[in-house]
Amino acid sequence: MTFYRGSELESVYQNALSDGFGLVASNIAEPNVLIGLMEGASRAESDLLLQASAGACRFAGNGDAEAGLNALGAYIDALAEGFDIGVFLNMDHQTDTEFIEFQMDEEIPSSVMIDASSESFEENVKISREVVRMATEKDADVLIEAELGQIKGAEDDLEVDNAFYTDPEQAVEFVDRTGCDLLAISVGTQHGVAKGKDLELRPDLAGEIRQTLRDHGLDTPLVLHGSSGVQPDQLRTMLRHGICKVNKDTRYQYEYTRTAMEYYERHRNSIVPPDADRDGRDTFFNETAWTPNKDHFDPRVGGRQIRERIAEVHAQLAAVSGSAGRSRYLETQ
Ligand code: G3H
Ligand code: ZN
Repeated sequence: MTFYRGSELESVYQNALSDGFGLVASNIAEPNVLIGLMEGASRAESDLLLQASAGACRFAGNGDAEAGLNALGAYIDALAEGFDIGVFLNMDHQTDTEFIEFQMDEEIPSSVMIDASSESFEENVKISREVVRMATEKDADVLIEAELGQIKGAEDDLEVDNAFYTDPEQAVEFVDRTGCDLLAISVGTQHGVAKGKDLELRPDLAGEIRQTLRDHGLDTPLVLHGSSGVQPDQLRTMLRHGICKVNKDTRYQYEYTRTAMEYYERHRNSIVPPDADRDGRDTFFNETAWTPNKDHFDPRVGGRQIRERIAEVHAQLAAVSGSAGRSRYLETQ
């Protein structure tokens, strides 16, 4: 349907807060994941929140983040037309205010996350507030997410060795002084490969942060980063404690590669010649009896398998997070 911006996304979060569900914010860097996510969200009748990091934009733009964002934005916009759900784009873990300004001027994202969580509290407040002001001054239709606390692990170019759990009173001061629309908190999740059973999750702390904010008149949706290893029951508990945006990246990266690997392993003999004929590659097998089979090496064939698996995984996640069957677009039909 439509590639929506901040004001529509805000109304989805309001529904999420009142009805106790969450949006799975799903990272993209290339078309097969993007199309798989659209397909999965559409099957689940869920709105779709995509995410792109600066690294993903640079990848899409062959090193040029601005070109990559423009290309991704145009691609999302064109493809969203084919699906009867609302599609949104969050700019994930942004650290460069010049690039954020570009995003707002191009009017592409629905929301922007400024990540100054590695800075001191005061510096984090200052940088995050500047981004909120930038959006206000430009009258940009974007929500601003900021982060307080530190989440262990590696995401894009950012690496954190030790977790710092978010303090509820500091969260109130942070939201109050920055004016951010969403708050990313650290409650024991980890960026990257992490097993839910090993995580020291603190849903109680998420609940306390939510309640302390509410006690001060702040109805700020909370964001859970590093959620790939978080298990369905753990996720449901988090959702009951004020989380309404759940970030997943690593899970899709794994599904992408494993799906491709299994497919190519199954069809190895159609793609790789027997050992003795390996040299034939440079002549495209002109001198050998063996011939590769295009039915299996055409990248679109493996690509379709990847799209289907990403669609399945995302539809399952939308069911767990409770966004399935609640598309804002479908509700207005
Ligand atoms: O911002 C993106 C996420 O927090 C993704 O975390 O890679 O652990 O799924 P993940
Ligand atoms: Zn993250």
